Amino acid sequence: MEGNDAASFRKPAAAYDRFVGRYGPALAEATIDRLGLSDGWRALDVGSGPGALTAALADVLGAERVAAVDPSEPFARACSERVPGADVRVASAEELPFEEGMFDATLSQLVLNFLRDAPAGLREMYRVTRPGGAIAATVWDYTGGMTMLRTFWDAALEIDPEGAGPLDEGIRMRYCDPDALRKLWSEAGLADVATDEIVVSADYEDFEDLWTPFTTGVGPAGSYLTSLPDAKQELVRESYRRRLGSPAAGFELSARAWIAIGLVPGG
Ligand SMILES: C[S@@+](CC[C@H](N)C(=O)[O-])C[C@H]1O[C@@H](n2cnc3c(N)ncnc32)[C@H](O)[C@@H]1O
Repeated sequence: MEGNDAASFRKPAAAYDRFVGRYGPALAEATIDRLGLSDGWRALDVGSGPGALTAALADVLGAERVAAVDPSEPFARACSERVPGADVRVASAEELPFEEGMFDATLSQLVLNFLRDAPAGLREMYRVTRPGGAIAATVWDYTGGMTMLRTFWDAALEIDPEGAGPLDEGIRMRYCDPDALRKLWSEAGLADVATDEIVVSADYEDFEDLWTPFTTGVGPAGSYLTSLPDAKQELVRESYRRRLGSPAAGFELSARAWIAIGLVPGG
């Protein structure tokens, strides 16, 4: 069961890696730190994309103890190539192809907002996690702290308010603050629910290094951009550049995510 943005993730993994994927390894490492994995655990990465979190989990637990799913075939293939030995499948969060209680930890990085039915996805994550096991997920702070995307949408809103307004991820993404995450986790019946922020960053060689991946149509922002006529794309580009201080050389952008962690009762 895929959401409306599904087509924007059926892109070459290399395009995603240069887009939001740049932040993935640091976010994965911070997520694993917050969760705390124990030796011998089995973990599942739901919505793995090309595999930043899957790879980080495999580094800690060993690939044979890690499984991953993503409905995007190119992303699942890239994940499988990136993490040989992991059990990577093309599947959706809402219908996980695993038995009950198979995993000690089920994680998901930047995926919740792309599920057609997030509570159903979380119910499945709960089902495949053993009693006492942990479920953790991160989402971007699309409303402000995720600089790369927030500044892009601000530029788009300036140039194309009617077109960009309904697509702005800061408005339409349901889970982009700790209260929304806590409510989702609590309503799923998870225990000891905790939320926190994680701030990561990415380096860019120059503005082109940031901009080029948007032009591949990857992700909701890239998909929106490539739907515009060339002249409007150019105006968005100029506004985006100006809003970032017209960088002439290398620069760094920070990105804030929220994490929710909860335990499956029992165990
Ligand atoms: C922003 S990407 C995050 C990818 C990866 N977790 C990362 O951190 O780089 C969102 C991912 O969610 C996946 N996705 C979309 N709908 C999904 C669903 N119903 N179940 C699981 N994953 C889904 C997309 O294919 C995409 O790989």
